[in-house]
Amino acid sequence: MNKFNAFPIGKERKEEIRETYKNATSFQTRGNREIFDSKHYTWIDSPLDGPNIIDGKSFGKSFGYLLPEGEASLRNYIETTLARRKSKAVGVEFGGIGSRLFSEFTPGFFAKSVGVSLLDHRGRTDQLARLTERDKKINHEVLEGNIFDTETYNSLNKKLENKKVDLIIERMGKGLEFVPIEPYTVSRILQTWYDLLREEGVMFVQVPVVFNNLLETWVAKIKKELESVIEIEYQKGNSDAAIHGACSAFRLRKLPRAPSELPLLDPRTVRKIPR
Ligand SMILES: C[S@@+](CC[C@H](N)C(=O)[O-])C[C@H]1O[C@@H](n2cnc3c(N)ncnc32)[C@H](O)[C@@H]1O
Repeated sequence: MNKFNAFPIGKERKEEIRETYKNATSFQTRGNREIFDSKHYTWIDSPLDGPNIIDGKSFGKSFGYLLPEGEASLRNYIETTLARRKSKAVGVEFGGIGSRLFSEFTPGFFAKSVGVSLLDHRGRTDQLARLTERDKKINHEVLEGNIFDTETYNSLNKKLENKKVDLIIERMGKGLEFVPIEPYTVSRILQTWYDLLREEGVMFVQVPVVFNNLLETWVAKIKKELESVIEIEYQKGNSDAAIHGACSAFRLRKLPRAPSELPLLDPRTVRKIPR
């Protein structure tokens, strides 16, 4: 590693991307066994606001510092922010099943929701069939795929009939092990999600804590250059999968006249930012 512990470049960068992708692909075949037998993940299909920990820590507890002052409920914030889309709203959880999450919104608020996960790891075959039937009642589906695969977005767009999305949420916790620690690959995905987001839509996105310095610099840039068209807040955590406390994450709202592409840090700036 070079003198100030920079992110990988050149060959090292390609290797990081290849290795992470290979590990994710292998997890798609062995993941169910590892989750059931050795509790590889304890956040399986987490609740929206809690308070109980059922199959994972609530999203509200992870994203609490991103809510406006005085707002304690993630559900309330999202439903208020998207009030005009009530009963038409479309939501996607990337890196998760999303079934319990979307079932905890006011019934009918979301017309359609999808959880994108490497695999549906909620149960063995018969149990899974039952859960999938239950999902149909709230028009929720699980799409098995890697968020770094173009094919995943082709399938997602088919499921969404090419509609834009009002809510994007990603809180992978320990699952961030399958995200390469490589800023350009991660920026490309953020760009894809931003493009998918409808105007006035909102996204909550966890980033690995190793990107804390980049997150801070990037948010400052958006606040300075685009405050009137992109609303953004961030929080910094100490650990990706902490049971207590916040994670590193941002909340972004695409306001009217927001740019069609998400403004990112230029490569020269990224190279100067240490991990
Ligand atoms: C610890 S679980 C968290 C699940 C859910 N977000 C929650 O909070 O309950 C990690 C999740 O990340 C997903 N994941 C990790 N890497 C992924 C990738 N590259 N593409 C899609 N899903 C991924 C796994 O399939 C798993 O569902």
